[in-house]
Amino acid sequence: MNKHPTFETRAPRSVDEITQGRRLRRMRKADWSRRLVQENQLTVDDLIWPIFLCEGTNLREDINAMPGVQRFSVDMAVREAERAAKLGIPAIATFANIDPDQRDDAGSGILDPDNLINRATRAIKHAVPEIGMITDVALDPFTSHGHDGILRDGIIVNDETVEQIAQGAVLQAAAGADIIAPSDMMDGRIGAIRDALDRNGFQEVAIMAYATKFASAFYGPYREAIGTSGRLKGDKKTYYIDPANADEAVREAEQDLAEGADSLMVKPGLPYLDIIRRLKDTFAVPTFAYQVSGEYTMIKAAGANGWIDEERVMMETLLAFKRAGCDGILTYFAPIVAERLKAGR
Ligand code: PBG
Repeated sequence: MNKHPTFETRAPRSVDEITQGRRLRRMRKADWSRRLVQENQLTVDDLIWPIFLCEGTNLREDINAMPGVQRFSVDMAVREAERAAKLGIPAIATFANIDPDQRDDAGSGILDPDNLINRATRAIKHAVPEIGMITDVALDPFTSHGHDGILRDGIIVNDETVEQIAQGAVLQAAAGADIIAPSDMMDGRIGAIRDALDRNGFQEVAIMAYATKFASAFYGPYREAIGTSGRLKGDKKTYYIDPANADEAVREAEQDLAEGADSLMVKPGLPYLDIIRRLKDTFAVPTFAYQVSGEYTMIKAAGANGWIDEERVMMETLLAFKRAGCDGILTYFAPIVAERLKAGR
């Protein structure tokens, strides 16, 4: 016959003995006490809204892989910028779906002062001067092969790409961009852009470095949005960071700051919260996260299926960025969040 094991014969310790009287649930007991001890908060001031641009007028095109997100022609983008400003969103970031016949091997469209990005910047800044304009400077919307650099003999040529990106950045600043955000991960681009901006009288234009951009599968839907998915040959592993590496991310950020970056961005966001925290603790500079297209789409897809509460998950992910140390978040949810916050939810 089985006997009970001997340890069960001792009297169990009470919870007060176990916790030594420390009960963390005390401060969670009511809404007022939870509010009182809440450490982090998401406000509209934390939001940057990335929007997609397309040619034409009076156009809003749905993007299959990103339910609820549309591409706007410039006139519609102006209206959306007005809406964003009314909601109190501090800044928008533009991304362009360039017509196929405007793309070439070298991505020379970035050197056109009247390209889609620059036209949108001028129109938005003219109509809504109070909103911050962030422009992504990279070759991928303009290259026929979808890479962020000039492709020669199977290699992304660093130095020539940097020269071209720096010129593109000056044109974006001339069009009215407040912040230039280089997303290409070429070596030396931050310093080159800073020099080019300063030499052309744009000392006031800031640089937000996509300091740590990882070679991620989470960019999939974005590539549909700007029409590069079918074009991209190979992958971006020779210039984006290996998702396995964190020390390398710190080095990239250190280098970008030394070259003159005003703020850092981590991309993608949620899978890289550890990087955000490390950068914030190490450098103590304005730090941003880009909640990228794949992160957005996963939440929308699960929400559409009724598998998660979409709005609550959305708010929770954005709060997680704040907890990790972010000063702000680029998110496709920005206008929805802003409306929600305005309604006090
Ligand atoms: C490339 C660029 C990318 C994104 C913005 N600019 C990544 C890529 O296509 O490789 C991704 C944004 C997103 O996924 O939301 N310069």
